[in-house]
Amino acid sequence: MKVEHLSVAYGQVTVLENINVTLRKGVLTGIIGPNGAGKSTFFKSACGISSK
Ligand SMILES: Nc1ncnc2c1ncn2[C@@H]1O[C@H](COP(=O)(O)OP(=O)(O)OP(=O)(O)O)[C@@H](O)[C@H]1O
Ligand SMILES: [Mg+2]
Repeated sequence: MKVEHLSVAYGQVTVLENINVTLRKGVLTGIIGPNGAGKSTFFKSACGISSK
């Protein structure tokens, strides 16, 4: 799966800005970062799940 130029904002607050990543089928990939970094937002957005 290829994600290109992904930016996400909740209202006026930008959480993700210009994210580019390629996730390969069959390869276990992890995402790490501090609380509130935007990990869940990334997965929801990449999968097309609205947070509203
Ligand atoms: N539905 C929402 N509405 C407004 N702000 C949100 C919403 N969901 C997340 N946020 C904010 O977006 C930022 C990223 O949140 P997110 O849940 O993606 O982080 P996370 O890396 O998954 O955090 P955690 O490690 O705690 O699971 C945080 O500042 C959070 O408060
Ligand atoms: Mg999370």
